[in-house]
Amino acid sequence: MQRLIPTLRQDQVDEALISVIHSLQITAKEISFRVGQGDLAGVLGSTLSENIQGETQKKLDILSNQLIKDILLECGHVRAVASEEEEGIVLGHENGEYLIAFDPLDGSSNIDINSMVGTIFSILPVPENNSGTADMFLQPGRNQVAAGYILYGPSIMMALTTGKGVKIFTLDQTVGEFLLTKRDLAIAPDTSEFAINISNYRHWQEGMQLYVDDLLAGTSGQRSKNFNMRWVAAMVADVHRVLIRGGIFLYPWDARSIDKPYKLRLMYEGNPMAMLVEQAGGLAHSGDMAILDIQPTDIHQRVGIILGARNEVNACLGYLKASQ
Ligand code: AHG
Ligand code: MN
Ligand code: MN
Repeated sequence: MQRLIPTLRQDQVDEALISVIHSLQITAKEISFRVGQGDLAGVLGSTLSENIQGETQKKLDILSNQLIKDILLECGHVRAVASEEEEGIVLGHENGEYLIAFDPLDGSSNIDINSMVGTIFSILPVPENNSGTADMFLQPGRNQVAAGYILYGPSIMMALTTGKGVKIFTLDQTVGEFLLTKRDLAIAPDTSEFAINISNYRHWQEGMQLYVDDLLAGTSGQRSKNFNMRWVAAMVADVHRVLIRGGIFLYPWDARSIDKPYKLRLMYEGNPMAMLVEQAGGLAHSGDMAILDIQPTDIHQRVGIILGARNEVNACLGYLKASQ
């Protein structure tokens, strides 16, 4: 089986970017070791602090953030990082060619139940102005040169795209390297499996409610077919399932708060997952536009998410449009 770095060379990825991905490989090994040790490493449970989004931080959120930050900033090719757990950006090397936005640990509420969590990353080029401020990050997701996630599950996997399809690498713990285990992932255009937190039903727009009503109605409704539901409650694992066996994942607009209408974040959740999904032939939409075309205004901004099987995403968008 092919190792991660030689695979990137074969794909003619430039050496600076390879070096960044190599650093991510190191962080994956460090974090997966600690996640795997669980209670033995004393890393489970919450801290007393809150992050910039007002969420209670888990010990592993903080630890993973610190590890990724330290390792990436040591890589001479990183100009700056932006993280879910950091209010502002953190500067790295002045001549670094890349910006990395990341969610150090996604699905962190799963930690305490020994369920899947992951790290999501987005790699952007440094823009010409190279201002050294957060503005450098405010580029549409279309500009990403690479994106992916590391899933800490029964096995440790890295899903990666450098714009030439999606590959999955599995960590061989005996040699400490990611080996290529799947290539050219393709999401089937149709599906009968959806993932949504249905407890938010009453907060959705009417179109979203009608769409989900018809999924639940199965063969007795307009869609004339039965749907199955899955929800891991970690985007990284739910999107992984969509990439591997198809489906649609939704975290739609939610009326609970005018300031904070969506749950998931654009720069380090929406954009990287959207790039992976589009590279696998699926669609990733906010409800208003393709996620990758959104011009960000803030590194922590939130976004509606409807992604996965092409025809199913379009079906959902049809309901939203019809009820506007
Ligand atoms: P994070 O742990 O990085 O804050 O992200 C959690 C997110 C996302 O992974 C998941 O899809 C969603 O929160 C689950 O939220 P609820 O089940 O609470 O709706
Ligand atoms: Mn997250
Ligand atoms: Mn997180």
